[in-house]
Amino acid sequence: MANNSKIWKGNWTFILAAAGSAVGLGNIWKFPYMAGENGGGAFVIIYLTCIVLIGFPVMMSEIFLGKYGRSSPVYTMKKFVSLKGISSYWVLLGWFGALAGLMILSYYSVFAGISLAYIFSPIPTDSLNPSQYSVDFFAQFQSSPMRMIFWHSLFLILTCFIVAKGVVDGIGATIKIIMPTLFFLIILLSIYSSFTGEIGKAISFLFMPDFSKISSSVIISAMGQAFFTLSLGMGAIMAYGAYIPEEQNLTKTVSLIIFLDTFVAIIAGIIIFPIVFANPELTPTAGPSLFFETLPVAFYGIPFSFFASALFFILVSLAALSSSVSLIEPSTAWMEDRFKISRTYAVTILGSIAWLLGLGSLFSFNLIAEFQIFSMSFLDFMDFLTNSIMLPLGGLFIALLVGWILSENFVKEEMKIKNELYWKIWINLTRYVAPILIGLVFIFALF
Ligand code: TRP
Repeated sequence: MANNSKIWKGNWTFILAAAGSAVGLGNIWKFPYMAGENGGGAFVIIYLTCIVLIGFPVMMSEIFLGKYGRSSPVYTMKKFVSLKGISSYWVLLGWFGALAGLMILSYYSVFAGISLAYIFSPIPTDSLNPSQYSVDFFAQFQSSPMRMIFWHSLFLILTCFIVAKGVVDGIGATIKIIMPTLFFLIILLSIYSSFTGEIGKAISFLFMPDFSKISSSVIISAMGQAFFTLSLGMGAIMAYGAYIPEEQNLTKTVSLIIFLDTFVAIIAGIIIFPIVFANPELTPTAGPSLFFETLPVAFYGIPFSFFASALFFILVSLAALSSSVSLIEPSTAWMEDRFKISRTYAVTILGSIAWLLGLGSLFSFNLIAEFQIFSMSFLDFMDFLTNSIMLPLGGLFIALLVGWILSENFVKEEMKIKNELYWKIWINLTRYVAPILIGLVFIFALF
C-alpha cells in the first residue's frame, strides 16, 4: 500500500505521469489511422464527443477511486468492499482491468517495437521515390517475424525494467524531459508538413464531417479510441491516482490531461494527412501501417534528415514507454502485494505472458495472416476486444460505482467540489450521460 513517502511530490508529477500514460501510440499512430479508416471528420466528431461526455467523468472517477484506496486497483476495490460495504463482486473490476492491461500491452509492444526499429531506418537520401520506398520498406519489415520479435522483445524488456524500479522512481524524472520535447517536435513537424504537403485536403478530411460515413462500427471504434487514448477503463489512471497529493484539484488536473492528449492526437493528424494527400503511393485507409509508411516521408529531404528522424522515433518510443508502463503497473502491484514477491519477479512473469500473447498479434502480419477469429485477424480481434469492448465496459462499471453505488455525500466530499452547479453537472454526467451513452453504443453496435 502506498504510504506518504510515496505520494508524488508536487502537482506536476501526477499530471506528467498521467499525461505520459495517456499520450502515446494511441495519439500518434492509432488516432490518424482510425480517422483515416473511418471516414475522417465524422469519426473525429464522435471521438471528441466521447472524450468530453464519457472520458472526462470516467477519468475523474478513476482518480477519485485510486486516491481514496491509495493502492493498486484490486486492493483499492477491496478497500471499498470492507470500508464502504459494497458487494465483493466489485473486486472483479480490478481483475478485469489488470487482464485488459496485459492484453493491450501484448500488441502495443509490437507496434512500439516497430517505432524502436524505425530509429535506425530512415529513407536513404538517394532514394528516387521516397513514398514508394517507405511503403516497400514496411512491407518487407512486417514479413520478417524474427526481426519483429527482436524489437517486440526489446520494448517489453525496457517496459519491465522501468516497472521493476517502481513507477514513482522509474518514470517521474524521465517524463519531465520527454513530454515537453515531444510537444515541441511534433509542433515543428506539423508546420513543416503543412507547408510541404496538402494541408487544405488534410483539414477538410479531418474536420468536415460526412455523416453518411457514420455506421455502428465507426461509432464503436470512436468510443473505444476515446477510452484507449486517455488510458481509461482498466485501472491505469486509478493506479496512478493512488499517488496523487491529497489537495490536488481534480478538475483542473483532468482538464489539462485531456487537453494535452487531444492536442497531440489532432497535431499528429495534421502531420500525417498533408503528406498522405500529397503522395499517391500513400492512402488514408492504410490502417495500422499508415504512420510507419508516412512519417519517414516527412523526414526525407529536410536538412539533417537522418538525425531528425532518429530523434523523432526516439521520442515516439519514449512516449510509448511512458504509456506501456501504466498497462502493466496495476497487475504488477497486485502480484507484489498478493504473493509477497519482488516487483522484479512479478513483472518478469507478467511481461512474459504479454510477450507470448503478443506473438499472436505479431504473426498476424506474416505467419498466420490468413487465420481469422470472427472474420478478424488475431491482431484486429485483440484490438477490438480490448478497445471496443473491455475498456468501455470497465468505464461503464467505474461510472456506475461512483455515480450510483457510493453515497453522493461521500463522493462529493472526497472530490472537494464546492460549486453546486458544477457538482450537479458532474454527477449527472457520471450517473446518466456516460453510462447511457456507453450502453447505447453497445446496443447499437451489437444488434
Ligand atoms: N493511452 C495510451 C496511448 O494512447 C495507451 C495506454 C496506456 C492505455 N495505458 C492504458 C490504453 C490503459 C488503455 C488503458 O498510447
